Amino acid sequence: MQQPPLILVFDSGFGGLTVLREVMRARPDADYIYIADSAAFPYGNLSEEQLLARVLNVFERLMGQYNPTIAVIACNTASTIVLPHLRGRYNIPFVGTVPAIKPAAQLSKSRLISVLATPGTVKNDYTKDLVEQFAEGCAVHLVGSKLLASIAEAKLKGEQISDQDILTEIRPCFVEAHGKRTDQIVLACTHYPLLLDEFHRLAPWEVNYVDPAPAIARRVTGLIGEQDETMPQSHKRSMLFTGAKPKGHDVIEMLAKFGIDAVYSLDIPLGPI
Ligand code: DGL
Repeated sequence: MQQPPLILVFDSGFGGLTVLREVMRARPDADYIYIADSAAFPYGNLSEEQLLARVLNVFERLMGQYNPTIAVIACNTASTIVLPHLRGRYNIPFVGTVPAIKPAAQLSKSRLISVLATPGTVKNDYTKDLVEQFAEGCAVHLVGSKLLASIAEAKLKGEQISDQDILTEIRPCFVEAHGKRTDQIVLACTHYPLLLDEFHRLAPWEVNYVDPAPAIARRVTGLIGEQDETMPQSHKRSMLFTGAKPKGHDVIEMLAKFGIDAVYSLDIPLGPI
């Protein structure tokens, strides 16, 4: 019998679930392993060297144990740093996540765009190159948030989160100049779409939030093909945590809403990062 593809989706935590959701919509017949490198979360505060060493270490374990058809690095902070190394080591396609600056520039009427990301992504030369290449004629504000990824994790775990903390983090994205206002905000961290309701509610004015997840899903089907209509929907959709797996019933229920039906701990200790 024909085997469904095995799609591996990787992030530091729950953020990549926003990408997984779109990829699952495009390929409901595939098997999935979602890896949250929870032992090293948040990536946004690591140096490039620490991040690279950590991700290569985790993939050494993963690739030895599973045999994925394709891997999605559903993390802006890690993608540009680790992708060349992963592609050099393993003979499968890797799809990355980069800030959606090009579509935001195409959509912007006010020519004022903000990129909301982790501090790591904001510092990354790749992000600055994207601005230079694709945002000509736009003023682009790069806003690095130290807290939003953790706030998004807390929200999904059912913990209390503060509107004031969220507003403080997103406020610098809203810029007024020469009678114009920011009209596009690039969600350049996969955790941030998890806070979209709060962003809409707390925004000083209405803007469009650009989420790269649908484009990533299209890239995956471009590489491995569209859904095989003759195959039933797959039910192998596991989530692995590199740290302890969460215990609360609420978290398991929340993960089920993202299509996850089994949760394991891979137990890859933090090591010398
Ligand atoms: N979700 C990740 C990203 O897209 C990283 C969040 C973090 O670990 O700091 O950048």
